Amino acid sequence: MMRLDKFIVHQAGLSRSEAAKLTASGKILVNGKKCSASSRIDETNDIVTIDGKTVVYRKFVYIMLNKPAGVICATRDELSQTVIDLIPGELMRKGLFPAGRLDKDTRGFVLITDDGALAHDILSPRRHVEKEYEVTLERPAEEGYEQILADGITINGQSGEPPEKCLPAKIYFTDDPYTVRLVICEGKYHQIKRMAKALGNRVVGLKRIRIGNIRLDPSLPEGMCREISHKEISDIR
Ligand code: URA
Repeated sequence: MMRLDKFIVHQAGLSRSEAAKLTASGKILVNGKKCSASSRIDETNDIVTIDGKTVVYRKFVYIMLNKPAGVICATRDELSQTVIDLIPGELMRKGLFPAGRLDKDTRGFVLITDDGALAHDILSPRRHVEKEYEVTLERPAEEGYEQILADGITINGQSGEPPEKCLPAKIYFTDDPYTVRLVICEGKYHQIKRMAKALGNRVVGLKRIRIGNIRLDPSLPEGMCREISHKEISDIR
């Protein structure tokens, strides 16, 4: 059981005052009846509607965003557009955050959720959740990269920190010598860019195309979101 206004704030992403206004004006109904904002509802069985549209109760939501370059992986920012700004109203709710960060200039799959435990699982190197990137290099890829990456490449530390050894990573060559796919199981800061630098190369384009078993939907245009089913999410672990 939970308060109606809390349900609305959490499930529909409205503010408490918006929820109170809509409830008072009779636009929010519980099982077809007007209720006060403070009334308690059974969130799994009662049917709550806003302007006639049912608000389906979900404990957590999981959203696939195809992030364009220029958007930052943060919940809010004074200057730049954030991944949260790209979430459409019908998927918006309180507590959403990106599970893992892509750089501002990196494109592709960002998973946005309010499920902290899942985010932890995705990010923890111990869970070995693979992340696959399509990488465009400044110079042609070399065959020797495969072994160096499989052994765990050592990358330079950030701002005076000691060098760091990466977990073994996989590389897939493509028909284009400048494009490879890299699969890593961790998420060190600027990891792919630092790996390319350690290989004597440089990343000129980066796109994440897979997290665990979930591939970026090729039909999802840049800047757009779609919900990921609970079944797909259970496979990610
Ligand atoms: N590695 C990077 O260097 N940047 C990203 O955005 C993701 C992985």
